Formats: sequence, structure tokens, C-alpha cells
Amino acid sequence: MLVESSPENIRRAAELLRSGELVAFPTETVYGLGANGLDRSAVGKIFAAKGRPSNNPLILHIGNFEQISEVSTISPEDKHFDLAKRLVDEFWPGPLTLVVPKHDRVPSEVTAGLDTVAVRVPDNPIALELIKAFGGPLAAPSANLSSGVSPTEASHVAEDLGQAVAMIIDGGPTRFGIESTVLDLSSKTPSVLRPGGISKEELQSVVGDALIISACAQTEPANAPKLSPGRLSKHYAPRTPLKLRTEVEISTLPPRSGYIRFSPEQNEVGEPKWVRTKTLSENGDLREVATRLFSTIREFDRSGLDLIVVDTCSLSGIGTAIMDRLNRARG
Ligand code: TXA
Ligand code: MG
Repeated sequence: MLVESSPENIRRAAELLRSGELVAFPTETVYGLGANGLDRSAVGKIFAAKGRPSNNPLILHIGNFEQISEVSTISPEDKHFDLAKRLVDEFWPGPLTLVVPKHDRVPSEVTAGLDTVAVRVPDNPIALELIKAFGGPLAAPSANLSSGVSPTEASHVAEDLGQAVAMIIDGGPTRFGIESTVLDLSSKTPSVLRPGGISKEELQSVVGDALIISACAQTEPANAPKLSPGRLSKHYAPRTPLKLRTEVEISTLPPRSGYIRFSPEQNEVGEPKWVRTKTLSENGDLREVATRLFSTIREFDRSGLDLIVVDTCSLSGIGTAIMDRLNRARG
């Protein structure tokens, strides 16, 4: 059931969560599919609804840094405690997920058996009100079918998950449109496991040069739980084949090809007659591109094309996350 975000609906949503049901809610990145993060059977419903492999761990969403002690044993004695504190001061609430040592009370289903747990404070008033009304950590992956495109509007969640969710709270289109950055603070050197809403440049301003950006691990075995953030090489993919503008030969495009541009047309010689085009930003602003990318891919995916062609961008700022998702969506 899709509902508006009234105080009454948030109260009802919190009740549903307490009784072990799933509730989808907006965050600043994408919509999350929420369940009681300390209830293994509720968490099991997330994996069933998404068709998600059980070796892919979930993010716990909390209301503020103090609540991290409910899900993690991280303490001032830990090597990276001070760093965690500085990152949190800078980026929470916001699209940064920290991987930290797990507390025993977090069910192993949440962490896919790992001794670490991923946690973040979302920067969305509806998400924060829901966490407060529920009164505990919410486990929430992106509210799409496993391997599909993440939902940036409530209607996307209804399309993908419909009946499997007790309630979908509509908070309008999400602000970032791309998932959080996942930063591992559990090993010796802080390392980015998934690029996302907080760029590596922003992280480096706090972490310094010690930051490791782990290589695109498309070669990881699909069942390696530790390195799972979108690391199954096929991820974020529409049903229609998708290719990058730089890898297609214009003369051999299938007849029904669509083109998603990042900035307005350059009047290129020999441009084909695309059956559908969309420009994501009038001035090539990559934040705007990120915000509109997933909903546009979904829209193109519904329009009976043979091929979706998408622009590429530089690997700076949010561009790293955009190219990471596009490389995983390529068919
Ligand atoms: O922006 C986001 O992060 C959204 C919103 C809803 O918060 N959530 C999201 O969740 O993208 P999901 O499940 O689609 O992606 C979370 C990623 C997964 O790929 C998972 O492998 C990784 O975080 N992850 C979770 N726990 C981990 C852990 N203990 N160690 C390493 N990676 C972990
Ligand atoms: Mg996801």
C-alpha cells in the first residue's frame, strides 16, 4: 500500500515494523526496504522479497551516532574510532555507510555471517522520523528486485515489490538518486567498498591519503560475502541491453535505440535517429545526472527499445559512482 508521509502513517509504519512486517521508505539516496534490524525473521522477509542472495549483507539505519553502540562494539579504544567520529561529524546524516565491528545482538542474517556491520544515518526527515517512531535500527537495502535498478520514486518500489511490502511511504523523488558510499573501517586501512553519494575527494579531505579505493572487483567470486557491495558484476541492470556511448558503433545500432545524454546535444556529425532521447542536465551537472539517471533508465526500459545507450563522464566527484553503476548495468 502506497501512502503519504503523514504522522499517522509513520506511526502505523512503526507498528508494522514492530510486528515484523516490511515498510519501504525514502532516504536521501534511494528508497529503502525496511525491517526490524534485530529480528532475524523480519530480516529474512527482505531477502525473500528482493530475491537477494543471503550472502549479501544489509545496511542498518540509525537515528544518530550515539545509537551506533546498539549495533557495533566500536569504542574509543578502536584504531579507527577517532576517524569514525570525524567522518560522522562531517557526513552524517548523509550518504556515507561505515563498516564497523558488529555487536552480538545483530543477527548474523543481517551481516551475512560477517563479524562487521554496515551502518548509516540517512539524511531524510521521513526516514529519521520512522527510525525514531520505531525506536531501533532498521535494516534496509535498496527497495528493488535483486540485481535491478535502485528505486528513486515510491512508484518504482510498487512496481518491483508491490504485495511483498506492507506499506510504502511516498516521500517524492530522492535527492541524490545514487546509493551511499560504503567505507570499511574494520580493517587496517580505511577502504571504499562502493563509491556513492559522498565522493572520494570529500572522504580524502577527512581521511587523508591513506584512503584505499578498492578496485572494481568484478572478478570477485559471486559468493564472497565480504566484498559484496554491488560486486556481483551484473547489478543495477535494466532488462533492455545497455551500452555506453563510447563503446557503440553508430552504424551498427539496432533500429530501436534510445540515448540518455548527460548534457545537451553537440550536433555531432552522423548522429543516428534515436527513437528516444533524454538530456539529464542542461549544463552537464553530474549531481543532477545522478539524481535523474535511475528513473530515466527505468523509463527507457519500459518503452520497448532494443538498446539503451548512455553517456560517460569523468571519474571525479559523483562521476565515480555514476560510472560504477553504469559499468555494472552494461549488458
Ligand atoms: O544508499 C544506500 O546505501 C541505500 C539506502 C536505502 O540506505 N541502501 C543500499 O543498500 O544501497 P543495498 O543493500 O542495496 O547495498 C548495501 C551494500 C551492499 O552491497 C552490501 O554488500 C554492503 O552494502 N554491505 C553491507 N554490510 C556490509 C559489511 N558488513 N561489509 C561489507 N559490505 C557490506
Ligand atoms: Mg541495492
